[in-house]
Amino acid sequence: MRAHRKTWWSVALSLLVVAMPAWAARPYRGGAVATAHPMASEAALRMLDKGGNAVDAAVAAAFTLAVVGPYHSGLGGGGFALVHDAKTGGTQVLDFREVAPKAATRDMYLKDGQVVPGLSTDGATSVAVPGAVAGYLELLEKHGKLPRAVVLQPAIEAARNGFWVSPKYQALATLRRDCLRQDPEAARIFLAKNEQGELDVPPIGHLVRQPELARTLQTLAKSGPKPFYSGPIAQAMVDTVKAGGGVLSLEDLKDFKTRAHAPLEGSYRGHRILTMPPPSAGGLAVVQVLGALERLRPQGLEFREPETLHLYTEAVRRVYVDRVKYLGDPAFVKIPMESLTSSGYIADLAGSIDPKKATPSASLLPPVEGASGSTLKKPDGTWYDPSSAPEKKNTTHISVIDKNGNAVALTTTVNYAFGSCLVAKGTGILLNDEMDDFAALPGVPNAYGLVTGEANAIAPGKVPLSSMSPTLVFSKEDPKKVMLAVGSPGGSTIPTTVIQVISNLVDHKMDVVRAVGQGRLHHQYLPDELWVDRWGLEAATQAALEAKGHKIRRQEAWGDAEAVYSDPKTNLRYAASDPRNEGAALGQD
Ligand code: DON
Repeated sequence: MRAHRKTWWSVALSLLVVAMPAWAARPYRGGAVATAHPMASEAALRMLDKGGNAVDAAVAAAFTLAVVGPYHSGLGGGGFALVHDAKTGGTQVLDFREVAPKAATRDMYLKDGQVVPGLSTDGATSVAVPGAVAGYLELLEKHGKLPRAVVLQPAIEAARNGFWVSPKYQALATLRRDCLRQDPEAARIFLAKNEQGELDVPPIGHLVRQPELARTLQTLAKSGPKPFYSGPIAQAMVDTVKAGGGVLSLEDLKDFKTRAHAPLEGSYRGHRILTMPPPSAGGLAVVQVLGALERLRPQGLEFREPETLHLYTEAVRRVYVDRVKYLGDPAFVKIPMESLTSSGYIADLAGSIDPKKATPSASLLPPVEGASGSTLKKPDGTWYDPSSAPEKKNTTHISVIDKNGNAVALTTTVNYAFGSCLVAKGTGILLNDEMDDFAALPGVPNAYGLVTGEANAIAPGKVPLSSMSPTLVFSKEDPKKVMLAVGSPGGSTIPTTVIQVISNLVDHKMDVVRAVGQGRLHHQYLPDELWVDRWGLEAATQAALEAKGHKIRRQEAWGDAEAVYSDPKTNLRYAASDPRNEGAALGQD
């Protein structure tokens, strides 16, 4: 009997040891990185292995993504980065988002007072002044350690040797096939001849080689950003856009400037949070929603509990109303940021939520009367119903924390899949369609079904309002030590993806892999629907939410969260690339 008991105990003990790892993800003693493409994560890791810091790694990944993920980002795009310096404890924000060309006008996408679908999303008319090259290279210049030529090398190799077409490439090229076919240069590079001899979505495994882009990258490696903003590369971009009826000029490029901002600060259950201020609406949403949740549930959130999900949805709905009312480029509009982030304001926001039932969005802010349609064109020329806007996965995010605790959260984009579908002739540069992030007509939804207001109307030199939310969360014990770097694509859904990853970690004590992989819920004021992804809700919870008056719409999985977690206690790092996509999380042993 005694012997038997002993055996039982040892079996139980060994099972416990096997079945209860402290974390589900693999720990790294050195730096770690997560990006949306394995080749970009490998490029970043290469920089860390060469003794580079988090910025070297992030910039190498950004340039590589511009080659291997043309549906996400590119040299003709823009973005935002948060950079944390472990030595000084300081965090800086670099804003290298595109701006409207000088010849842009408020009504440029309207005809007879109505939005013309496609004008702000497809081709030359949709192109804003690109900022990515200025941004990536400034980050490297100011905060990197490695030479430019070393950091750009993986991207140059990827452009020269090619990358293979994956299921995601196919899905997004299918979405944009008609748009890509409009530009012979884009079609030649990103499509391939089918059996009928037409340029079509390439088969899986097809190698996309971009020799012109390799040459452009080599020029940048050698000479820095100058040739991009003046000289033959700039001229090629201007000629291509002008030939297609757009308004980009050499002066636009010459005058492009990145902007530095102070990070937007918030906190959640004792963790300091630094995130992206305007011209992104994303950071404000992160700070306001988390602030409201903490106030409404001071003891913590219960996982997937209907009352909690109701409060979350209602907080998000209200925050997206603020977005419409107040947000735009802070250089053009006065945004009451201090008030919008104050504890009194957040208390009022939380207090305005009816715990029993959903507040109809229209009662918070009536939709613009008579506004109809959307900027996004279907192949038949009509517009998409904004609720079913087909794609919320492009744009791309890079998270890195290096072995010394330096961290980068960088979100970058050409906006919609394959941007404007226009490649500047002879350069391989895919141009953005970021102009669609403006309110083409206040009240009419853009490609993400997002409605924005007067504050986001088009003006020359103005930055279109963004949702991109690169975010750093700090350790409770040491508010200068980064615990989490996170961000995601997904247009309007970006802030709620970031909020849910943070809550999964902080409230539900999930490892970073689980936190990123969980199902998601999203509301954005209009359309007045709670979007739920494939894994977002159990039937009983859905029924409980419906009983409160929420109109639920199931959507395909959205977003592509990329996160690196640094355990404040062990100083080990864990990385997670969203299982909804094709990225990779890597690190140094
Ligand atoms: O800046 C923005 O908010 C958008 N241009 C981001 C686009 C995006 O995430 C596309 N993903 N579906």
